[in-house]
Amino acid sequence: MCGIVGFIGAQQAAPILLDGLQRLEYRGYDSAGLAVYDSARGLQLAKAKGRLHVLSELVDGGAKLAGTAGVGHTRWATHGEPSDTNSHPHLSDSGRIAVVHNGIIENYMEIKEYLQGKGMVFHSDTDTEVVAQLLEYYYEDDLVEATFKVLHRIEGSYALGILCADHPDQLIAVRKDSPLVLGYGEGCSFLASDVTALIKYTKTVSYMEDGELAILTRDGIQVYDSLLQPVEKERTTVDWDISDAEKGGYEHFMFKEIMEQPEALRKAVSPRIQNGRVVLENLTLEPDFLRRLSRLYIVACGSSYHVGVVGKYLLERLLRKPVEVALASEFRYSEPLVDENSLVIVISQSGETLDTMAALREAKRLGGRILSIVNVVGSSIARESDQVLYTWAGPEIAVATTKAYSTQMAVVDLLALYFGKILGTVEESEYHAVLDEMLLLPGKMEAILSNKDDIQYFASQYFNHDSVFFIGRNVDYALGLEGSLTLKEISYIHSEAYASGELKHGTISLIEDGTLVVALGTYGKLFDKAMANVLEVRSRGADVLALTTENRRADMEKNANAVITIPETHDMLLPSLGVVPLQLFAYYVALMRGCDIDKPRNLAKSVTVE
Ligand code: AGP
Ligand code: GLU
Repeated sequence: MCGIVGFIGAQQAAPILLDGLQRLEYRGYDSAGLAVYDSARGLQLAKAKGRLHVLSELVDGGAKLAGTAGVGHTRWATHGEPSDTNSHPHLSDSGRIAVVHNGIIENYMEIKEYLQGKGMVFHSDTDTEVVAQLLEYYYEDDLVEATFKVLHRIEGSYALGILCADHPDQLIAVRKDSPLVLGYGEGCSFLASDVTALIKYTKTVSYMEDGELAILTRDGIQVYDSLLQPVEKERTTVDWDISDAEKGGYEHFMFKEIMEQPEALRKAVSPRIQNGRVVLENLTLEPDFLRRLSRLYIVACGSSYHVGVVGKYLLERLLRKPVEVALASEFRYSEPLVDENSLVIVISQSGETLDTMAALREAKRLGGRILSIVNVVGSSIARESDQVLYTWAGPEIAVATTKAYSTQMAVVDLLALYFGKILGTVEESEYHAVLDEMLLLPGKMEAILSNKDDIQYFASQYFNHDSVFFIGRNVDYALGLEGSLTLKEISYIHSEAYASGELKHGTISLIEDGTLVVALGTYGKLFDKAMANVLEVRSRGADVLALTTENRRADMEKNANAVITIPETHDMLLPSLGVVPLQLFAYYVALMRGCDIDKPRNLAKSVTVE
């Protein structure tokens, strides 16, 4: 949701801000705007509803906004419909102060009424405008002091970028619950919601913490804590290049990221297998704590939750401890039985999902130990966890997750082996069987990708369906959850994942002539059941596209209309391979339906609102 960029230096700011906003488009937005300061023209504002190109055309690519200091914003409306007026930046009454904001000011209405009572005139329906007006209200000549007063008055979540015409040689940044990254350049400083927006200009960054206030100047950045005490921020060097966040010749980011999965898997797994052992960097969970564990929780949203559903099978099999997988949005309100003997594994690609962050904080409040599996380095969830394992998948730009899902899965598999070894609950033979197979996954994934044209053909046969069932048992059912969600989110086809054995208890009434059923039958132990379920739906008129392992193609072809296969692997690793054909199927179906694959309607890459 939404994006913030800021720049102060020697170059013209507007083109840099527009470029940064463009790299944040994947986060989802409905309008955009810029505020730039120039000594001759003062504070200039440009903002517009719609895609970023509308704003860029309005300012002629930035040429119409002179000045070397500015802030930019892509908005995801929460208060006030998407419109030119409600777009950010918002100005204070005098026009001296411009503010951009990511998040929600929960007590904005009482502040707005108070300030209106003082004669201030509001122009928008947004919550954000109260920040600009309250700054004006407190401001005399010290902008930092006025900002500090505002922070003691507003409640809610906010990342703020502030530019004041009286202090044109500084930008102010503030964060609470919504992410902000600081970028350090030669004679310039940068601000952004995430690294993607500023890596083209600098790889030296630091991540703001809740309650911090930063003053960005041409000579550097000074950060203060919530008591206005100077803070020495750790600077990190981003370990990927801007090309990783560009399409690189592919038509869509999603396809690029599907194709990147073998390499992403190698980066997530290989460094963590040394001399036939799983080595998990700086993980410090005492063996006694693991032995005392009454239960493991896995908490996440969407596809990250689906990783947990798959992970439960291997974790319970190897650790012989109960694993509860919970939707973060439910967990946080369910009075979970978490205590000091609980381990809560939090999974998140973005590390900013608000529901997942709230669940993490609830689990922490109850005394649980938090281990997070995250892709975005330095993200809020990573920083608030007791331990974090990064998936090292590199930036995932497409809204529909692919490489993050498969690398999250791999990290969960490694964790299961690692804990099983500590607890002594995993047989050496199984430990090495899983480990050996994990090292072979990238190559097997490449084999699947080399047959992508077959999947494109099947998509061409089925892209016109308006309802699709994904059925499976055990890990195949868990896999179907992700296959169904990916299809839904990019092709807008209604789809449902269903436990095959459950169909006959009601839902099978929906199967009729021509209903498309994607039957997942990769799990060998239940293959005969999978075959029986194929016949069950075929006999009611369904078209069945089956997924199974290569050694069972001939059998499945007896019953299904069409068969896709994956190479064999360890039972518990099947979803890591099985998900790839389902991602490709969803991609090609969406392509044939002319959908906006990288930016599906109503969706955002990081859901930072409830
Ligand atoms: C996007 O393709 C996913 N389907 C979406 O459900 C995502 O997994 C969910 O929003 C959680 O995001 P996170 O992993 O960044 O926390
Ligand atoms: N709540 C603010 C608004 O609706 C900011 C939303 C955002 O994060 O973009 O304008």
